[in-house]
Amino acid sequence: MDIQVSTGRVGDADVQALVVAVFKDEQAHEGFLQELDAATGGLIKSVIESEELKGKEGETVYVHLGEGRGDLKAKRLLLVGVGERDGYGAAQVSQMAGTAARALRARSVKTVGLITRGAEADAERSAAVAVEGVLMALFEPDKYRTSEKEERTIERLVIMTQGASEDVLRRGAERGRIIGESVNFTRDLANEPGAYMTPTIMAERARAIASEFGLEVDVLDQARMEGEGMGSLLSVARGSEEPPALIVLKYTPEGFTGGADGGGKVVGGGEGLLAFVGKGVTFDSGGISIKPGENMELMKYDMTGGATVLGVMRAVAQLKPPMPLLGVVPATENLPSGKATKPGDVVRAMSGKTIEVINTDAEGRLILADAIAYARKLGATQIVDLATLTGAVSIALGDVNTGILGTDQELIDEVIAAGREVGEKLWQLPLDKEYTRQIKSDIADIKNVGGRKAGTITAAAFLKEFADGISWAHLDIAGTAWGDDAKPYRSKGPTGVAVRTLLNLIERTARASSGGKGEKS
Ligand code: BES
Ligand code: ZN
Ligand code: ZN
Repeated sequence: MDIQVSTGRVGDADVQALVVAVFKDEQAHEGFLQELDAATGGLIKSVIESEELKGKEGETVYVHLGEGRGDLKAKRLLLVGVGERDGYGAAQVSQMAGTAARALRARSVKTVGLITRGAEADAERSAAVAVEGVLMALFEPDKYRTSEKEERTIERLVIMTQGASEDVLRRGAERGRIIGESVNFTRDLANEPGAYMTPTIMAERARAIASEFGLEVDVLDQARMEGEGMGSLLSVARGSEEPPALIVLKYTPEGFTGGADGGGKVVGGGEGLLAFVGKGVTFDSGGISIKPGENMELMKYDMTGGATVLGVMRAVAQLKPPMPLLGVVPATENLPSGKATKPGDVVRAMSGKTIEVINTDAEGRLILADAIAYARKLGATQIVDLATLTGAVSIALGDVNTGILGTDQELIDEVIAAGREVGEKLWQLPLDKEYTRQIKSDIADIKNVGGRKAGTITAAAFLKEFADGISWAHLDIAGTAWGDDAKPYRSKGPTGVAVRTLLNLIERTARASSGGKGEKS
């Protein structure tokens, strides 16, 4: 899709269809709508008076302007309700753009002019989130379908903001393209069947983005993991014929020499190194504690945390924020075999802690334990991990909120705020030390499950044993990383949740450390 920007009159836009956001209870005789009403020969007024469109979020009305009606070059118009004018922020612009893109593609429209309204204040950001929204909306998970495949595509998108500067719009559109494509990169990885997304293939994909966009990459194989003493991660990989991989990506800003303490900026204003760690179980059968067959095919997406880290680093390499960042992805399959770890086995993690494996299906925490330890060895002082870690998080929060827990309240608050700005909701669960009692083992330091109660919390309590002493937040995306149903602005399947939240977290941190002057000043 070709992405362009325009600051000129909407009437002149050389596109097949124009997209216009309409606020709740907005009237056709006010401001911009009045202009458009005149240009369409009174069409806006008649649509609003028909009460077909009240401006409620998600409503759409699609009309063809007959030849000779009005003086718009575009002969089709899609009006999209966006709710209250007051609440119209980045998240709403992105969803509006996505809703429009899917609706117009379904109608075989090839060229689209998208008018960003109320965007004068931050034209760059609006352009970015509009492009992002369109790219995300057009992703389809039917990669392997050969018949009845959706072949329609939008070929050209023009972001239109009257009165803005073209440079500003272009910068925003480019940022949106990078982010939207990176979210879709993550979704594509998450969507791949286990056979096509083994740990080895995942590592290849990481190497490919490192060489395409300029990142340092290192992949630890089994021998190196043994050398590091990663007995916890290796205990999960043992049952599989596919070798595991521990993927490390490092971004360093050009000319970076380090702050006063040699470190970069981290969330909360200090100095150090922020790392993202993502669970990369490329297929989770449960291992010897094997899962029931129903829905097991979905366990191909158990590497989404890792895919999210790769997507974030892919975008970071292009957006070039002013602080260094680390990405660590432990990748392995979890399968039963004659070599597989058995319930009751005791394994020794890189940190030296011993773990009694009660249930081999609680494997995510086992691989994250060593990945967190390795990130710390590489200098991480602040860690955000992401994992499809527990089924319990969907029981608690459904597919609406990502669960967040951790040891650094300031970091947690910042992640939640960063998510809210991009329309990704997170809800904090408590992590009191009392929960740690549930993972005490009779024969080792800890065990890998804590019983039926508070499953998401005891999983985090386990991770805390390895993140102790540093700034840490954990995102359980098991409920939010996969959409069972399509939305007007998104297909069903992998959602790419948290990529935008983390990129916004980085942007907010960069802005705060430059004294709130904005990343580019
Ligand atoms: N990958 C699963 C969690 C999961 C479940 C993700 C459903 C997405 C959808 C994880 O490895 C797992 O199996 N967790 C167990 C933990 C239990 C054995 C303590 C669970 O949630 O049942
Ligand atoms: Zn599992
Ligand atoms: Zn799992």
